[in-house]
Amino acid sequence: MKKIVIEGGKTLSGEINIGGAKNSAVALIPAAILCDEEVSLYNVPNISDRDALIDILHHLNCQTSLDKDALKIDLRQLKNKLIPENLGKKLRASYYFMGALLGKMKKVEMYFPGGCNIGSRPIDLHIKGFEMLGAKVKIVGNKYTIEAKELIGTRIYLDIASVGATINLMLAACKAKGTTIISNAAREPEITNVATFLNNMGAKISGVGTSEIKIEGVEKLHKAMIDVIPDRIEAGTYAIIGALLGKDLKLNNVIDEHIEALLSKLKDMGVDIKEEKNSIIINRAKSLEAINIKTLVYPGFPTDLGQPITTLLTQAKGVSLFEETIYENRFGHIKYLQKMGATINANVHSMQAIIIGPTKLIGADVVATDLRAGASLVIAGLIAEGTTTISEIEHILRGYDGLIEKLTGVGANIRIEEI
Ligand code: EPU
Repeated sequence: MKKIVIEGGKTLSGEINIGGAKNSAVALIPAAILCDEEVSLYNVPNISDRDALIDILHHLNCQTSLDKDALKIDLRQLKNKLIPENLGKKLRASYYFMGALLGKMKKVEMYFPGGCNIGSRPIDLHIKGFEMLGAKVKIVGNKYTIEAKELIGTRIYLDIASVGATINLMLAACKAKGTTIISNAAREPEITNVATFLNNMGAKISGVGTSEIKIEGVEKLHKAMIDVIPDRIEAGTYAIIGALLGKDLKLNNVIDEHIEALLSKLKDMGVDIKEEKNSIIINRAKSLEAINIKTLVYPGFPTDLGQPITTLLTQAKGVSLFEETIYENRFGHIKYLQKMGATINANVHSMQAIIIGPTKLIGADVVATDLRAGASLVIAGLIAEGTTTISEIEHILRGYDGLIEKLTGVGANIRIEEI
């Protein structure tokens, strides 16, 4: 068991290189299944979710080689097998093997996926979409058997613009007969990254980035490569840290358009941000103004930055209102921020929190209940007086590549210790 120990209060300056996007990489790796040859993925983040997906590829008899951030996957010996529950439940994104294997082999057997405990997170829209493409779905307990004689393109309307369902149905539809239209599709940049990869393999997908995606089925997908886009949530997390502790803190490899919703809020709070080509420079604000934030699907304010920004709001002058609209259980960090001295009045039923600031935070023993809760507590530890110890850090390591190295590199006092 490991914990993160932080001595707070250090000014941070220098440069941080933002890595490849977790939520792109975790879809691109299963998407490789659709190829009949070999694929190369570059800028793949070094996170435990990557390794969990590679374990599943090995189980399916795929060969892989990893050289720093370059992952090659050879699909020529692929064997379709039941994906055991212990492999699938390590992460949410194992569900992309449903769409990929169904598309390629017309059959998949696996279990309900794992992932952060931030809500009930059903996959009914994925299943409904597979059925509309012609698959039969048998669910026994947690186990899903999905198979089809053939998949036939159709029009699928998503009740919710779900990231996971949009990607999964795009994967399944790539090799279906005829044309599939996904309407009310999600528009997150990670979806565009996956569609670009599939098109590089020979798929015919258009309309990504809009709410109507068109997929014309093809017979074969060939050798291809792709660069994982920069992680907008990692960039956003460090931008928030810069707003609190930065002295010319420079974030490289940032697509500022992808974090426009955050940058606009930070500017409203009074943070000094200079945008350059592919990088931003942030200085700690002399004084932060309270604001209201509501999470929304892209291009709105991302749910994954809701928890990190709560910590920033504890340092703003006045009353801020934070409202989560995507997941029912995004408030795991609140009690620990309160323990550290924050004044937060949270209502889990209305998914709203009122934050009154600024309040001084004092180091404490806290728990990372999920990935982004962990990020919010890392930020809290960095600004707190004294020592903060965070346990259950496996959640954080699932999603932030080189967190400790990147932060110590700009002057933070943060380390991992064995418990
Ligand atoms: N939903 C349904 N039915 C479905 C699918 C989704 O009701 O079949 C609901 C969910 O319960 C949720 C909402 O729709 O309330 C949105 O879920 P979505 O499918 O968009 O999210 P996801 O695919 O499960 C991905 C990311 C999340 C990120 C969300 C939203 C991955 C592996 N996960 O989840 O990332 O918060 O999109 O952008 O890509 C994280 O990185 O910390 C994280 C949780």
